[in-house]
Amino acid sequence: ADINLQEIHDLLISVAEEAGRMIMAATPSQLSSGTKKNSADLVTETDQAVEKMVSTRLMSAYPTFSFIGEETFVAGSTKLTEAPTFIVDPIDGTTNFVHAFPAFCISLGFVVDKIPTVGVIFNPFLEEMYTAIKGRGAYVTVHGREKLRLPLKNEPEPLKDLSTCLVGAEWGSDRSGVNFELKSKVFTKLASSKENGGAMVHSLRCMGSAALNLAAVAAGQQDIFWEGGCWAWDVAAGWCILNEAGGIMASGNPGDWKPEIDGRKYLAVRTAPSGQREIVEEFWKVIGD
Ligand code: IPD
Repeated sequence: ADINLQEIHDLLISVAEEAGRMIMAATPSQLSSGTKKNSADLVTETDQAVEKMVSTRLMSAYPTFSFIGEETFVAGSTKLTEAPTFIVDPIDGTTNFVHAFPAFCISLGFVVDKIPTVGVIFNPFLEEMYTAIKGRGAYVTVHGREKLRLPLKNEPEPLKDLSTCLVGAEWGSDRSGVNFELKSKVFTKLASSKENGGAMVHSLRCMGSAALNLAAVAAGQQDIFWEGGCWAWDVAAGWCILNEAGGIMASGNPGDWKPEIDGRKYLAVRTAPSGQREIVEEFWKVIGD
């Protein structure tokens, strides 16, 4: 049966607004927040309460669709299929939320055949609502008033090379083993000078929310975003918004132009009249060397 994407988009916006009210009413604290796999992997009661509200509302409206949420995901048993699926992070940027650093959001993705189809990301602190429906463009609405088309620049500049890029990248919560070695290498290579074998990008930003990183690339505020280790709920909504703003998603794995939504390694590039593929290739080369 045909799925009414506009109706899903409107519901996701209403759910995001309710989540925003819950998040802004909460008083998280550094000492009372819980941890999951280690001391850098935080969760609060608000993450859990918001996910419960979101799953209840979405599942009562669409009982035959699937639902994957960060706080109820069970490794090894929760599987992404071709079915219409809501993929939800109740608070992306929980660490920022706990510290009252104003870069956290709710990320609501809707995926069909594993293709990001509707995306809604809401930063309740700044009241910025990023939205997209596949094939219908991407937008940001600020304070519920101005609705702007993404990217924010009318004429995005060509992408020349990595040395002219502002790069979003994240440490994530895996801080040991090969994954940490890879992240350390990527950060060092991107930052260091050409003489030292690096790309010497303009700078690196760690915003602390994968979804807001993707929104920033879609808006044209960051040129690229790289992360190795985040999850489908961190990227499902932002991916749709990025694509609708003319950006592309490649994989963090060299040579892979068709990343899986649950592939956990992502490289997003902003829209540009030229240079998108060249930037991806240069990035793969720099991290591979
Ligand atoms: C985290 C954020 C962070 C990223 C981590 C994610 P959470 O999500 O997106 O930027 O580096 O990999 O897990 O835990 O705040 O929902």
